[in-house]
Amino acid sequence: MLNKKRAVQIVIFGGNGDLTWRKLVPALYNLFIAGALPEKYCIICVDYVAMKEPAFRKKLRDGIDQFSRTGKTKKRDWARFESSIHYLAGDFNNPACFAALGKHLNAQQKTWKQRASRVFYFAVSPRFIETIADGLHTHAIASVANLDRLVIEKPFGTDYQTAHSLNRFLLKRFAEKQLYRIDHYLGKETVQNILAFRFANSVFEPLWNKEHIDHIQISVSETVSIGKRGGYYDGSGAMKDMIQNHLMQLLCVTAMDCPHRYEAETIRDAKLQVLKKIRPFKNSNDLILGQYTAGTLNGVAQQAYRKEDNIKRGSRTETFAALKLFIDNEKWKGVPFFLRTGKCLPRQSSTIIIQFKKSKHPIFSDDITPNQLVISVQPEQEISLLFESKVPGLQMKLKAVEMDFTYKDSYTEPIPEAYEALLLDVMEGDATLFMRADQVEQAWKIMTPLLDAVKSENHKLHFYKAGSWGPQASRELLKPFANNWFSLPDPAIK
Ligand code: BG6
Repeated sequence: MLNKKRAVQIVIFGGNGDLTWRKLVPALYNLFIAGALPEKYCIICVDYVAMKEPAFRKKLRDGIDQFSRTGKTKKRDWARFESSIHYLAGDFNNPACFAALGKHLNAQQKTWKQRASRVFYFAVSPRFIETIADGLHTHAIASVANLDRLVIEKPFGTDYQTAHSLNRFLLKRFAEKQLYRIDHYLGKETVQNILAFRFANSVFEPLWNKEHIDHIQISVSETVSIGKRGGYYDGSGAMKDMIQNHLMQLLCVTAMDCPHRYEAETIRDAKLQVLKKIRPFKNSNDLILGQYTAGTLNGVAQQAYRKEDNIKRGSRTETFAALKLFIDNEKWKGVPFFLRTGKCLPRQSSTIIIQFKKSKHPIFSDDITPNQLVISVQPEQEISLLFESKVPGLQMKLKAVEMDFTYKDSYTEPIPEAYEALLLDVMEGDATLFMRADQVEQAWKIMTPLLDAVKSENHKLHFYKAGSWGPQASRELLKPFANNWFSLPDPAIK
């Protein structure tokens, strides 16, 4: 629980950037109107561009009005909230920026008559992480290990070596408990619920292993193209942008053993054990890469990836990746985990499919559909179980039916955005949903042979039309376990 009496100073580096505008400030505003922030708080946005505070505040308000899940700001709420927002123009490369920040923070807390807790959010390009961290350290701005926290956005490194060096750099200046490496997928309500679903119910966990599960599919399909993010994306690709972090985290929550306590370190240990047991990647046929070409997405023409802004000519960057992994431990030996993600696919959908084996009781003449558990992370936010049932009538005929749990039918409570949950956790000092140094490094270790395959000119790059479900080869990858990736019925088709 957050101690509301402890004031908090939230400093956002990259305070004039897109993440702050679209996600962080709307999340802080929602925490404010929910009464979840401490009694005393301030938000200091630091960025390079010179800007007057009133114009800056107005820009943030427009962002909330456009992107907040709670809709437009109300005049009175906004008036109270905006008075706590400050803008500080400064160059991260210039020590004067940190001197000014330190002065500002100290002056502010003097009026509060207490040492505030400090959250430093790095909403910046990765090339600034070390400079900013060093500035904070040299100016002793984040020097109270129990109160001061640094939130580092992905990508954390670009391979094992760079992630390891970055960890060493940060750990020379700060304690591990001050470092919050964020992966916003872990803050999603439906992802947090996977642990509750698996470990608070007695019916699923006994079946959650190789004896009963045939295979698992984890898929994050997106309709969006890379749009204006070409500069970043072309050097990254789907493997580094999505698989190394978001899909690996989904894999961990799906495959981990039950920790003995619900507590940051034990949960993170359990996830690390999964990563450590992933079989080193050897077979290049188990990795399918694709790149979108021109097509039509939901009735709108979409240009080819290679024609998007800031993409190198003839770029081989993958916008689609599908792969097969095995976890070599007692629980999962022999069970394939299929991971898939792609841009410009026909539907936005993040799902985890637990495909159970066929019933061992062949007493019915009808062909049996094996049980299937579908965890829909977004946008549907539901869990459904497919099971066989007798069709009413005079004969013993079977048909697979669904049992559904949906958030919208079961709860009236609003669903917070991932960034709301995660920001509050940082203020509370709860690192459960953040990645520890060893976890990030281990995830990169697994990725290295895969990334080598990605870089290799010999690794085939499949082209797929924007608006299609990606390369046919990604469906072949599933065989003989499945013929196709699971797809929720299109809501447009009734
Ligand atoms: C980001 C990736 O981390 O996650 C984007 O950089 C991707 O490329 C996004 O679109 C997906 O997040 P969400 O929450 O929209 O599924």
